[in-house]
Amino acid sequence: MTELFGPAIDRDSSDSIKWKRYADRDIIPMWVADMDFQVPQEIRDAIKRRIDHGVLGYGSDSADWRQSIVEHCKYHYRWEVQPAWIVPTPGVVKGLNIARALSAQRGKSAGITTLPVYPHLRFHSPILEFADRGFNTLLDNGVWKLDLDDMQANITADVGVMLFCNPHNPIGKVYDREELLALADVCEKQDLLICSDEIHCDLILNGKQHIPIASLSPEISRRTITLMAPSKTFNIAGLDAAFAIIEDPDLRQRYAKLQYGLVGHVNILGTVAAAAAFQTGEPWRQDLIAYLRENQRIIAERVGTIAGMSMIPSEATFLAWINISELQLDNAPKFFEANGVGFSPGSDFGDENYVRLNFGCQRDLLVKALDRMELAVRNHRRF
Ligand SMILES: Cc1ncc(COP(=O)(O)O)c(C=O)c1O
Repeated sequence: MTELFGPAIDRDSSDSIKWKRYADRDIIPMWVADMDFQVPQEIRDAIKRRIDHGVLGYGSDSADWRQSIVEHCKYHYRWEVQPAWIVPTPGVVKGLNIARALSAQRGKSAGITTLPVYPHLRFHSPILEFADRGFNTLLDNGVWKLDLDDMQANITADVGVMLFCNPHNPIGKVYDREELLALADVCEKQDLLICSDEIHCDLILNGKQHIPIASLSPEISRRTITLMAPSKTFNIAGLDAAFAIIEDPDLRQRYAKLQYGLVGHVNILGTVAAAAAFQTGEPWRQDLIAYLRENQRIIAERVGTIAGMSMIPSEATFLAWINISELQLDNAPKFFEANGVGFSPGSDFGDENYVRLNFGCQRDLLVKALDRMELAVRNHRRF
């Protein structure tokens, strides 16, 4: 299995956003959420076959792609999705903004989300006239919990959509049935649209079951736009192969209409890759989960030995959310960069007491980054 995830592929000289940031500096990039692993062979073969067809004009989605999503949802989440409910969307972030635009169309120009959270749930696209509100996710005895009282207190009259992240980037939380029902109850009482970003749902590390919020009841499903993609799990984020699942025909039509002229046609290589991922990728995904689990165990063990740092292991994702508040650094990301590691700043997600470490990388690189992190903190402590 180790061979599947190593040796490292040189991304320094590629088009990678993650690696280009530090191209001329000795800083290990552990920020933006893509992995350093090569895409499974079956997916690469499917893409090659499509390219070898030789004609690469505008594409539409295929029955094969739709069916692969239907079967994936049924097998993994016991969720019966109809093929017609699926709307191709080249990227989950675009879907979040389409959901905001839908809310604005209904006269509600604000959204609410759980904090801390992935920046595109916190902040709308500048193309929209919109307002962003947040409510807290709290740590209670080492367990993250939604503060629904804070949510209710922040639902002003202009809020029309709840932007939800499950599994939750960056805290790595996988919400259970009771928590989802309680959240949906607030959304029903306040008549909010739910836009549920479930892009990390196939990356559960602790064996919990992912529950799409829309699968809980027909009433919840009717007000929900679920955004999913194989991009994080199979490392194909550069192919823009996301999709929305929307049961309500009116909501779906309006969503599709709003996309028109803004987000373009589907990426033909993306749909081919997505279908291949869902149809053939399961053994690779299982190996990936085992590899990531071990990476996270190594991080937790190391962080546990460093005074001033702490973390609650993520239930899902390849992202570790590390509390560095006790180190009292003036600028944590810059401090770690100066010591050779590039983390995502916690402030991007709404909490500067943390940094986010992307552990979707080969183990030797991870250990090297952890060594640098530890040395930096120990030296800092000496002064
Ligand atoms: C929660 C979440 N949503 C969306 C995205 C980005 O999705 P896309 O590249 O499909 O726009 C990311 C990427 O890190 C993410 O973590």
